Amino acid sequence: MAGLGCLVRQRPRGGTGMSAFAAQWLDLREPADRRARNADLLATVARHFSDHAQIAVTDLGCGTGAMMRTLAPRLPARQSWRLVDQDTGLLDAVEQRCREMPPAMAWQPHQADLQEDLEAVMALPADLVTISALLDLTSIAWLERLAEAAATHQRPVYATLTYNGRIACEPADPFDAQVACAFDAHQRRDKGFGHASGPLASTQAIEQLAARRFIVRQADADWVLDDSERALQAELVQGWYQAACEEDVLDRQKLDGWLARRLAAVRAGRTRLTVGHCDIWAYPPAPRSRSSSRS
Ligand SMILES: C[S@@+](CC[C@H](N)C(=O)[O-])C[C@H]1O[C@@H](n2cnc3c(N)ncnc32)[C@H](O)[C@@H]1O
Repeated sequence: MAGLGCLVRQRPRGGTGMSAFAAQWLDLREPADRRARNADLLATVARHFSDHAQIAVTDLGCGTGAMMRTLAPRLPARQSWRLVDQDTGLLDAVEQRCREMPPAMAWQPHQADLQEDLEAVMALPADLVTISALLDLTSIAWLERLAEAAATHQRPVYATLTYNGRIACEPADPFDAQVACAFDAHQRRDKGFGHASGPLASTQAIEQLAARRFIVRQADADWVLDDSERALQAELVQGWYQAACEEDVLDRQKLDGWLARRLAAVRAGRTRLTVGHCDIWAYPPAPRSRSSSRS
């Protein structure tokens, strides 16, 4: 079904530094995101940096700073974060949500359009580049640029919560598959980076990084939403409906009926939604020493 980055109440795009992502949507999904991030991979990333006295992180498409809130307690205490987003409203929202960060932590907002400025941002000093819930909005061309820039500057990349195309709705509805199909088509629309990779994004990112000799690990990071998360379930279902309406390929009456049934099941606490995501951890190979390069 959907690249979940796009499951938001859309705001019109303009030249105002605002994107289509609402802080309320990011707040709503943050607990589910936090649970979903793969714990083993997160521990592996933490171990990789455990002997660093300090660490500088660049977070691409930071939203309200959820990645920093999740990862900071796992990294060396002295941290500096560069939080990159095109949306000035979301960058302002970071301030409200990160007032309680430990004193050894510094962060700075950095407004940039990552379609235009990716290479410039990747060139800025960083020990680690993080990405969360963004890759599925991007394109194969952008993923290639990301991998190339990561290789050029030897930046490890931790990219979480990339939607991978697996959706399971319980109880099942006979119209689910058609909505899913319409939604898939919508997901591939341009989200500002060219034709979106959608569910193929993590596979494509892995290929691009591996082609540049990065050591890459991937792991499942699924959302599993039970009836304790009815608000998030309802937003998801309405987002799928909205996308299917915009695709305009389904009988509207049937689509409306599907939405009514799905929302009724959510309200009754009878729904469980599983949404597949992939986390990726990729780091460049250690530079070869003179002696090993001779062998
Ligand atoms: C689904 S949200 C994820 C936010 C955050 N990483 C998280 O996990 O909560 C995608 C984010 O990417 C940002 N974004 C989308 N297109 C962008 C672009 N072209 N340049 C910079 N940021 C962009 C959005 O503003 C939004 O904050």
